[in-house]
Amino acid sequence: MANSIKKAWYKEMAVYQVWPRSFCDGNGDGIGDLKGILSKLDYIKSLGVDAIWFSPLYVSPQKDYGYDIADYRNIAPEYGTMEDFKAVLDGAHKRGLRVIMDLVVNHTSDQHPWFLESKKGKDNPYSDYYIWRKGRMNNKLPPNDWRSTFAGPGWQYVPERDEYYLHLFATEQPDLNMDNPKVRAEVKDIMKFWLDMGVDGFREDVITFISKREGLPDGFPLPVAAGVEHYIDGPHLHEYLMEFKDVWGKYDCVTIGEAPMMTPKRALKHISEGDEQELNMMFHFQHMEADCMFVSWIKMPFNLKKLKTVYTNWQKQLYGKAWNALYIENHDQPRVVNRYGSLKYRKESAKMLAVMYICQSGTPFIYQGQEIGMTNIGLKDINQYEDVSTKNIYHMARSFGVKDETVMKLAAYASRDNARTPVQWSDEKNAGFTSADKPWFPINPNYTEINVKEAQEDPDSILNFYRKLLKFRKENEIVIYGDYTEYYHERDDLYCYGRTYEGKRMLVICSFSEKNITFTAPPAYDLSFGKCMICNYDDPTAVAGGCVLRPYETRVYLFE
Ligand code: GLC
Ligand code: CA
Repeated sequence: MANSIKKAWYKEMAVYQVWPRSFCDGNGDGIGDLKGILSKLDYIKSLGVDAIWFSPLYVSPQKDYGYDIADYRNIAPEYGTMEDFKAVLDGAHKRGLRVIMDLVVNHTSDQHPWFLESKKGKDNPYSDYYIWRKGRMNNKLPPNDWRSTFAGPGWQYVPERDEYYLHLFATEQPDLNMDNPKVRAEVKDIMKFWLDMGVDGFREDVITFISKREGLPDGFPLPVAAGVEHYIDGPHLHEYLMEFKDVWGKYDCVTIGEAPMMTPKRALKHISEGDEQELNMMFHFQHMEADCMFVSWIKMPFNLKKLKTVYTNWQKQLYGKAWNALYIENHDQPRVVNRYGSLKYRKESAKMLAVMYICQSGTPFIYQGQEIGMTNIGLKDINQYEDVSTKNIYHMARSFGVKDETVMKLAAYASRDNARTPVQWSDEKNAGFTSADKPWFPINPNYTEINVKEAQEDPDSILNFYRKLLKFRKENEIVIYGDYTEYYHERDDLYCYGRTYEGKRMLVICSFSEKNITFTAPPAYDLSFGKCMICNYDDPTAVAGGCVLRPYETRVYLFE
């Protein structure tokens, strides 16, 4: 029931995600940093967002670019100092932007002092901070068959302890033993530290992985992430997340948990509103699987019906009970225009995709560069890649006998590095990202055409479209709180849904075709009574019963 939906600031906000290393370099060493971020706060504010989520800024050996933390209470020197962070926090707050930190507590870096102690032996205070086991076959084989999400074994042998430690991600990312109450107390302390400083919440990295099934039984044999069924939604997850809520629940803040392999049904156990709610929202992955199986590396043809089924499920099942986190890009996903849109119709399709997800019920997240329609760089040589998962998958595929050329073709499409090229600020040297001779990572050569400066000046740009769309969302509660009905599910060239709220109605129309297609309005919607509020083409003419949609055309009609 539309009227029973509870309002909250975190439901109304839109969030901009910054991946610091590639956002903006403020000191000319080729690496993005806090000084650079500070200089762009006005730009971020100008998008019409309400918050910034920072991918990890903490001290880290950067084996997984910040998701391997060596000190939870300090800023990585290459990004700046704690003073620099406080200036950003303050500058954001002054502009009415909240700040969301990444909380990575499923694992630490292997250089974290806890791990350096823990690996020394069994009789030290940090001995049980990680998941240590004896191997099988006289310690010759790992304790079970679990494999890393990044390919390769899930265990690493350490001679000092004559034991193996579990790492669900890179070898340098040992999993914390969350069953140890001391570890949970550390997590709560870390949360408190940042909340007391004034940050406004956390995006919690693979937080649904923190509880592993007792006995760590063998998993279904998969080349990557074998064992995942034993920890995607482990036995103590609820208990531990409720414990963390004892801390954050006392602050006016927001929590968003990253939840791979999550389904709406299971999500409702965790994020349904009420006393037992563990997190405000979850990032699930199902809608990022419309062109692949589970991960972008197992490529399939884009399937619009699959995408619509996922969205409709989440919209319907959560409505009035829990809240959706909406995104189509982040630092782990290749650029969406390459995947669900069209390079030929880059501008049109980027705008259409923006409407497609932002006009649903939920909190939209926008990843740096998405707002100017950045595209995959598609590097050709494995040595140009930086991402640990890309390298591991490459070597695994090569060991299976797959040709270099074939893997590289796939990487060009699927690698996370596609999202990690420096933001293209202008058509000047190094896209205005850095004054250094060489940025830390290659810049997409298309920066001469695709850049923020060009987009600022063009009233018709993707950037200005995002601004308009976010303003429209802010000014119309129906976009935020309305219910959702999908139309024409069977069509594979069109995504159409309606929203209703307090007597108003809205119709969202998205063409996924490179051709002109006919659109017939659903019976309850007479287009001649609706007002076309958003469109990615000039002159959206229509008759009562419908219209012709141009390639990747999108329209939003409001009926008041
Ligand atoms: C999450 C992060 C990803 C990281 C992984 C391990 O999926 O988004 O970037 O590699 O967790 O921390
Ligand atoms: Ca720098």
